[in-house]
Amino acid sequence: NTIKLLKVKSADEGAEKVLEIIKDELEHNQLHVLGLATGSTMIPIYNKWTESDLDFQNVVTFNLDEYVGVPASSPNSYAFFMEDHLFSKKKFKKTHILNGVAEDLEDECARYESLLQKNPLDIQLLGVGENGHIAFNEPGTAFESVTHVAKLTDSTLNVNSQYFENDEKIPNTALTMGISSITDAKKLIMIAFGEKKRAAITKLLEGKVSIDWPITKLLHHNDVIVITDLDIS
Ligand code: GLP
Repeated sequence: NTIKLLKVKSADEGAEKVLEIIKDELEHNQLHVLGLATGSTMIPIYNKWTESDLDFQNVVTFNLDEYVGVPASSPNSYAFFMEDHLFSKKKFKKTHILNGVAEDLEDECARYESLLQKNPLDIQLLGVGENGHIAFNEPGTAFESVTHVAKLTDSTLNVNSQYFENDEKIPNTALTMGISSITDAKKLIMIAFGEKKRAAITKLLEGKVSIDWPITKLLHHNDVIVITDLDIS
């Protein structure tokens, strides 16, 4: 496979690498549409961006996913996370995020997918779930999937519920870009820090594509960078 592995010593060094890649793409005028992710992995990355002089005023963004039933005003929503960590500090041309409180969720997914088709992603940032999920595409999700309503697994609910504040219950449903909406991006940057991600990154680097490990679909893509602090031989 063509995966480029960047081994770093710390999350901070990993975030520095991401900054360099983004800076380079911006300088070469190759970054117009940027796919963003949420999760604790992304916090040091967005911190670096907000502390930098990067200019995103000509960049349109799309976020990967959002919880169903959680409004942007709730600190538990991904919309809130993005506002808090990035959008309130850096100006973008336009930011898109799925609306988890849309009246018709199917319509919302179709609307989002058609926006993506009209604005092809130059880069997609990705984290990974402990069970190998990307965005909210859980094990077993069709590789051909586009933006859809997804059921979350118990594993994901257990891991992600620790971030839920104010006694709000974590929903078991989310809206998410599909695996094919993600791998349509020209360049994929997968970032994974810490032992909890070892199983998923090991599966990826083993080189065998399996529907049980959504992350392994990246093996079919020709421009993937994996940034990790894990030693995997
Ligand atoms: C959530 C998100 C994923 C993210 C994952 C890992 O499930 N839907 O997009 O990759 O969390 O999060 P963390 O970076 O906190 O480990």
